[in-house]
Amino acid sequence: MPVEYKFLKPEQREFFLKHGWLKIPNAINKKYIDAWMKDIWIRLDYKEDDPSTWKEEYVKLPRHREVLASEFAPDAWAAACDLCGGEDRLDEVRERYNGDHFILNFGSDYWKTHDCTPQETPGWHTDNDWYRQFLDSAGTALTMIHCFTDIEPRGGGTLLCEDGLTDVCKYLYDHPEGLEVPFRGHVENIANCEEFFTVTAKAGDTFLTHSLLPHTASRNHLRNLRVITNPHASLKEPFNFNRADPSDYSLVEQAILDRLGKPNGLPEWHITAPRRFFYPRNYTFKVARVQEELERMIAHAKSQGLGPESVDSIYLRGDDAIKEHQRRNGFNLPHGPNKFPDGVKTYLHDFDKNPQRAADDV
Ligand SMILES: [Fe+2]
Repeated sequence: MPVEYKFLKPEQREFFLKHGWLKIPNAINKKYIDAWMKDIWIRLDYKEDDPSTWKEEYVKLPRHREVLASEFAPDAWAAACDLCGGEDRLDEVRERYNGDHFILNFGSDYWKTHDCTPQETPGWHTDNDWYRQFLDSAGTALTMIHCFTDIEPRGGGTLLCEDGLTDVCKYLYDHPEGLEVPFRGHVENIANCEEFFTVTAKAGDTFLTHSLLPHTASRNHLRNLRVITNPHASLKEPFNFNRADPSDYSLVEQAILDRLGKPNGLPEWHITAPRRFFYPRNYTFKVARVQEELERMIAHAKSQGLGPESVDSIYLRGDDAIKEHQRRNGFNLPHGPNKFPDGVKTYLHDFDKNPQRAADDV
């Protein structure tokens, strides 16, 4: 069946195929920005008006709340479904909910007075921390960047490498045996790339980026807080590069085929190793923060004369709510290779071993 577009206009489809990303302005339901940002400084234990208390330059928090993606950001969800070839191709459980797993870029005093080219910026990657990666892996068909704050130029927006998408497609084409996380070979050519875009936004905007589009955190030179989340679109089945009718290809599939110079399909390409799926590797260092965040949230409620029941967190709603949250996010899967040690609260422990890795994720 040819893909039926319910939301995207032809010029938006063309833009995505050319650039590998698409901006959906004012996509987020504002009530969730207001509600979820309210206790961010309590969760962090930083003082909003005192940057000397901002201990880390870059922080990733766990998730306490989640709502259906279609409720959280209706236009972004509709656009994502179109890009993936229709809602019926999306997984019915995984990535159906968006939450408050904030990714925070505070900048630093150093970066207020120093600069860095895109090619010099470390941490380039594509999002996948939970399966053996093949060219046709569709566990993260899209990476969504939901912007919870305004992002000014030089304010630490996500940096995208448009011509890097071609290199990633070619690298994965040449590795039908798949790659185990974390892998880096697919982004080693970024130093030679030339087409970069840095996200700027109003709070409420969403960027939908191709799963194989390399990205990293840009330096925040302004020293004001940038807040995003990065949920994904996850498909039921791997990408299909052998559709009889080319109009059946989703735009995400077509972008890969175009970058490989084979717009009609890849009948010659097959994976040569089994698919494997794991507990999301990066969640180990996020979940380690849950208990202390809860304690601060409950203590804050108490200081306001309120009880723990007033704190909005999945972790305070009982076993059934926690189990459902785990099912939606793959926390019921076995750990995979290169697991972070239990209790680690920041990916920067890994960074110590490999200084070129400034970020495992946006
Ligand atoms: Fe990322």
